[in-house]
Amino acid sequence: MLPRRRRARTGSPGGPARPGPACPCPPRFPGIAIHLAEPRMGRSRRAFLTRLALSKGFRVLDAYSSEVTHVVMEQTSAEEARCWQERRAAAASPPECTHLELLDISWFTESMAAGRPVPVERRHRLEAAVPAKGPPGPVRVLPYACQRPTPLTHPNTSLSEALEVLAEAAGFEGSEGRFLSFRRAAAVLKALPSQVTAPNQLQGLPHFGQHSCRVVQELLEHGVCEEVERVRRSERYQTMKLFTGIFGVGVKTADRWYRDGLRTLDSLHEQLQRLTQQQRAGLQHYRELSVPVQRPEAEALQQEVEAAAVDILPGATVTLVGGFRRGKLHGHDVDLLLSHPQEGLEAGLLPHVMCRLERQGLVLYHQHHRGHPEDATRRTRHSHTMDAFERSFCIFCLPHSPGAAAGGAHRRAVRVDLVVVPVSQLPFALLGWTGSKHFERELRLFSRKERGLCLNSHGLFDPEQKMLLRVASEEDIFRHLGLEYLPPEQRNA
Ligand code: UTP
Ligand code: MN
Repeated sequence: MLPRRRRARTGSPGGPARPGPACPCPPRFPGIAIHLAEPRMGRSRRAFLTRLALSKGFRVLDAYSSEVTHVVMEQTSAEEARCWQERRAAAASPPECTHLELLDISWFTESMAAGRPVPVERRHRLEAAVPAKGPPGPVRVLPYACQRPTPLTHPNTSLSEALEVLAEAAGFEGSEGRFLSFRRAAAVLKALPSQVTAPNQLQGLPHFGQHSCRVVQELLEHGVCEEVERVRRSERYQTMKLFTGIFGVGVKTADRWYRDGLRTLDSLHEQLQRLTQQQRAGLQHYRELSVPVQRPEAEALQQEVEAAAVDILPGATVTLVGGFRRGKLHGHDVDLLLSHPQEGLEAGLLPHVMCRLERQGLVLYHQHHRGHPEDATRRTRHSHTMDAFERSFCIFCLPHSPGAAAGGAHRRAVRVDLVVVPVSQLPFALLGWTGSKHFERELRLFSRKERGLCLNSHGLFDPEQKMLLRVASEEDIFRHLGLEYLPPEQRNA
């Protein structure tokens, strides 16, 4: 919760934009009146940019009027800008036809950096492109995965999967740079609307370095890439994949076991003393846990947990997140967020839910983490990867298997994460836990690098103003960041 004094500052940009105490001096550039058009900008970003411009002596008009000379938009296509202008012109009475500059944010940021209005160049203008004759030009792909929709299925699967193998292998070796290069190139392919059939179609795409280009070229020419196949066959890759596939085993542990000469699950069974409780449970249920969870199974579990939670605390909510919220039909686990519309009532709920589910015979293993509510702000500021929510890492026994063959009331083990979220943080937790992991990584990087804000599953923090930004929904978070809203099914980067 924000103290009242701070909350006021998150208010409408209208306040500081009007002349008054926030704008004590006469504008330095009288011929210029800027209007920041909001649709893609988000209110807090608009307020921030308004303050910035005022502090540099620019005149900023909160409301659009005939005085406005420069309209600045962010993340807006020329087509959208034209529609915006038409709507304004139609709404004006009498209808006006003043000359207006419709500009991209680049004009604004360059002007702020220069401390004066820079001359408008063609590249600053939002001009509707004249439809080109001949074959379509290269597709424009924005650099961050959070700036573009990525559907669940796409026409370049074999290419993206090959690059993901190389990314994964680099990750196993601790090569963060290589991991990210391949992962980003794969994510670009996932966002393309049509199939790549020739290497020159990669020209101009972000994140396609020599290596990724070479891999795609080889795949297009020969159907396979020698390097990818070599990695796939290698003992190192196969073993690391096997070990990191065990619940509770990360890259570091898998690497240590590998370096100690371990190669198989049997070899781990012989060295149980090396394993944590969680890893032992993972090893014990390995075969069942490596069978993907089907969507109907995940939904059945969500209902089971919800029934228990609501029974204990009426009004409690249980939301299925992770890959299933992005539309996946199967996944490696079930991610559930527990909350309650009245902040504070969610505290203490989880142990009761776990007891109830245990009595129902649903729980094969669980490990409770207390969580650190007092850490939430600190975590937000430092943008840690692991969040501070109270949670339970579980292995559940499926209540029944809707997908199982007839006659088989087959029960099997499934990995489940239960996470307790205070309702004020729910939009951030929803966004953070919906993934994909790559989407989240890029979103946080974008927030930090492009907006100077720290985002994680607890909140969005403005280090300059030293305040947490308030939101009511995931849409609000995108707006704050000046990003076009992407629904969960378009976050499959
Ligand atoms: P998962 O690893 O469950 O991935 O994390 P997934 O997308 O659901 O895919 P499956 O399960 O392999 O099918 C889901 C999201 O939750 C976040 C991850 O960053 C990811 O975005 N997450 C996961 C956390 O924030 N914290 C965690 O401790 C684990
Ligand atoms: Mn998941």
